[in-house]
Amino acid sequence: MNDQLFKKIDITVNGRHRTLFIDQRKSLLEVLRKDLGLTGSKEGCGVGECGACSVIVDDVLVDSCIYLAVWADGKTIRTIEGESRDGKLTPVQQAYVDEGAVQCGFCTPGFVMATTSFVEKNNGQPVTEDQIRKSHAGNLCRCTGYQNILNAVETSMEACACKSKEKKE
Ligand code: FES
Ligand code: FES
Repeated sequence: MNDQLFKKIDITVNGRHRTLFIDQRKSLLEVLRKDLGLTGSKEGCGVGECGACSVIVDDVLVDSCIYLAVWADGKTIRTIEGESRDGKLTPVQQAYVDEGAVQCGFCTPGFVMATTSFVEKNNGQPVTEDQIRKSHAGNLCRCTGYQNILNAVETSMEACACKSKEKKE
């Protein structure tokens, strides 16, 4: 083992402080999935194209497959595992269920984190369908359930008292 490759990091994941001694070459996704057993974030492409690995780091949505774990030192990370509380889904998660926006489910954790980030950034502000589409452009669904996903984002916005300007009555 080459000790020079390893570094201690302190991160807070879903509200829990963790100190890890990790290989500096590891991505945040690898650390979440392999070191911490948080397998909700998925590896689709591994190169920052599909968004299946999306997590929120200090309020910023990132592709954790191309985000080095050492960059997260001292930061707060939210993954899909930390969203529901006491078995109760968040409004965003509930919207995905209600709108039937889940097919195989592989992309869903990433989409839910992208929507969560978008809803939190725009809470209270009207948004357009175009803004919703652009904000989720980094997330791909191989089952191509995009209309239902779009509906889920709009329902999420409504649930958070932020109605889409273009939502049809
Ligand atoms: S797995 Fe990270 S963007 Fe595709
Ligand atoms: S639901 Fe299957 S990839 Fe999106």
